Amino acid sequence: MKLNIAVLPGDGIGPEVTDQAVKALKAIAIEFDHSFTFTYAPVGAVAIDETGDPLPEQTLDLCKTTDAILFGAIGDPKYDNNPSATIRPEQGLLKLRKSLQLFANIRPVKAYSQLLEKSPLKEHIIKGTDISIYRELTGGIYFGEKYLSDDKNTASDLCEYSRLEIERISHLAFKAAQSRSFNVTLIDKANVLESSRLWRKVVNDVAKEYQDVTLEFLFVDNAAMQMILNPKQFDVILTENMFGDIISDEASVIGGSIGLLASASVGDKYAMFEPIHGSAFDIMGEGIANPIGAFWSASMMLEHLGETGSAQRLMEAIKKLTLDGIYLPQDLGGNSTTEHVTNAI
Ligand code: NAD
Ligand code: IPM
Ligand code: MN
Repeated sequence: MKLNIAVLPGDGIGPEVTDQAVKALKAIAIEFDHSFTFTYAPVGAVAIDETGDPLPEQTLDLCKTTDAILFGAIGDPKYDNNPSATIRPEQGLLKLRKSLQLFANIRPVKAYSQLLEKSPLKEHIIKGTDISIYRELTGGIYFGEKYLSDDKNTASDLCEYSRLEIERISHLAFKAAQSRSFNVTLIDKANVLESSRLWRKVVNDVAKEYQDVTLEFLFVDNAAMQMILNPKQFDVILTENMFGDIISDEASVIGGSIGLLASASVGDKYAMFEPIHGSAFDIMGEGIANPIGAFWSASMMLEHLGETGSAQRLMEAIKKLTLDGIYLPQDLGGNSTTEHVTNAI
């Protein structure tokens, strides 16, 4: 298969883990006789440094002409620590998601049996966990109107959702449940928020088309507790943008480290694949970043493009790597460098 892949490494450990995913894809290409072309483009803080824009026009254009996008991470302490900065790396990622209409962010969470002891949570609680989080990605409080008063002492962010925005991701979540354990949990705050009440109403309507799927509801505060108390109760989680962001970082602890978690951001036309972690400046340049989330994202990309055999091959390598436990990175209690882990893969 011939594929053109846009590679957006971004900031911090973004380039470190993305490089490894590209190496793994090159190995897959040799084994399966694929022809992959990788075209690199700047995004985030590096793009601001180079062009003044966190998502330069050329980067966006490239993303629109390739088969898929491999994304690293963006963000830089110089912006994190400066709330007054009006141009910010995160705007690049958000604009990319919005422009490409990547409305569904799918984040798988699994407790691999070999890594059970690596999680700070008790083995008997997390063993068997297999969750697919469907996080809405182009709406909600992230994209609503923002306001800062002239005296800069009052601010607001509007959380807005339309029926259509809720429907399209709900269909994906219910369809996913049909190929899993036939259960969808909607996480919301419908006891307080009008937007959450719209979610409950619309998701209830969509559920009628999927009679074989059970629909449950949880308030987000309770859900945050249930995720730690009994994560096995979840199959597909469906939720709005910000709740999904928070719940998925929390859920990553089940697998042992956020460095493991991958994601697919999909819309009707484009798709982007990214580990869920950030630019992790605290470990940047040390050569110890866990690249497994980036490998897993690359595998999700291959799966999405219909290359199931290649995708499975990469997942098998990840499983074998963690199973052997010889080449575990430091965040999983091992002492392998990023490069060691990649070579092992
Ligand atoms: P982070 O995910 O970068 O780091 C959180 C913690 O997890 C850190 O201790 C870090 O060392 C560790 N960690 C993360 N990924 C790891 C990996 N692959 N291997 C080993 N350890 C890993 O979150 P943060 O510190 O809150 O944010 C840092 C910056 O990243 C911010 O600017 C933020 O906006 C940005 N961010 C970007 C994305 C993205 O690009 N998708 C996601 C989250 C945060
Ligand atoms: C993520 C990140 C982003 C988000 C930030 C960097 C905009 O945390 O991809 O999870 O909040 O969506
Ligand atoms: Mn996040």
